[in-house]
Amino acid sequence: MENVNSRKLKEIRRSLMSILSEKALPGAINFAIGEPTYPTPNTLKKVIETFIKEDSADYGPVAGLLSFRDFLAEWYGNKGTTFVSGSENVLTTCGVTEAVYTSLVALLDNGCEVIYPDPGFVLYEQAIKMCGGVPVPLRLDHASDFNIDPQLLKRLITRKTRAVIINSPSNPTGRVIPQRILKEVAEICGKKGVTIISDEIYEHIIYEKGHHSVSEFTDNVIVCSGISKLFRMAGWRLGWCVAKEEVIKNLVKCHQYTVFRAPTISQRIAQEALIMKKEIKEMVSFYRQKRDLMLHLMGSIEGIRFVKPEATFFLYADFSKYGDDWSLSLKFLKNGVVTVPSTGPGAGFGSNGEGFIRLSYALDEESIRTGIAKIKHVLTQVS
Ligand SMILES: Cc1ncc(COP(=O)(O)O)c(C=O)c1O
Repeated sequence: MENVNSRKLKEIRRSLMSILSEKALPGAINFAIGEPTYPTPNTLKKVIETFIKEDSADYGPVAGLLSFRDFLAEWYGNKGTTFVSGSENVLTTCGVTEAVYTSLVALLDNGCEVIYPDPGFVLYEQAIKMCGGVPVPLRLDHASDFNIDPQLLKRLITRKTRAVIINSPSNPTGRVIPQRILKEVAEICGKKGVTIISDEIYEHIIYEKGHHSVSEFTDNVIVCSGISKLFRMAGWRLGWCVAKEEVIKNLVKCHQYTVFRAPTISQRIAQEALIMKKEIKEMVSFYRQKRDLMLHLMGSIEGIRFVKPEATFFLYADFSKYGDDWSLSLKFLKNGVVTVPSTGPGAGFGSNGEGFIRLSYALDEESIRTGIAKIKHVLTQVS
């Protein structure tokens, strides 16, 4: 019984994060999980009570609740997205994972190339392959603060390129793409007729500046975002795509025959959550304190290089002075600390991140201090 599985799946690798998390010792300090810890405000819990009392957990429309899609269209319009006029520009999805995947299903024919950031979120390369595409990594270098080099992007685009994935703020680097570069990316992709898939899931956790979307500069884009990193709501599984009407029509076809309809209760919660400016501000300062503690503790380790995170709750550091990223992560694991290396026997953040390890600091202060002390201890043993 050979060949019972799709050939495409042979190419798909499990994520290093899950491989290492499964091996963790009980009680290990987990710097690996990209899971928010800022609690969900009580007012949002009331939305859930009302929803249950109303007994309104019906399917809802395929593209999402009309009221929520109208709300999102207005929300994006206020943020400067140029092409939104109403619900026809929005599809609700089961998280950004589905939003990105659905976008790729809608855009790709077999053999089409998709450019994606390297280092970048583990989903992109695997999803491109699952959709029959050819992943083309776009190098982001530590020396240029992990910014996109527009000239390099231009060179990578061929006649086969269908899409370019960008991610700002970025997982794993914690960096934000400057407006000037977003504009250049928009221009390059516009001229070449290549669609931008813009993953903006960390748009609410930004420390230094406000969030800017590439959709301020072009309509040649599918914006993918959601509520997984807003408060503590990843399990509500809600995301969305915002794009031109004709693009949304195609995305709806893919969504209809995979997910069918995104959870209606989550759309109601999201609508309330997105306008909670005061609570969002508090959430940002909650993570900022942790970021500053990390900067202080990591800054005291000799030979480690990293770029200051401007957003997210990740610090992405170069440990190459002490060994390769995979072996070091295994050593940390044996000492009760889970981290995510960029490379290893599974899918990480990409080969351009070799030597780098990602630490999620959405943890309490004591765990951060204990975890970094353990990491320091391992490093003194290997050096
Ligand atoms: C950059 C990025 N995109 C997408 C996702 C997945 O989001 P969701 O939970 O909405 O599917 C994550 C989750 O960690 C992420 O870091």
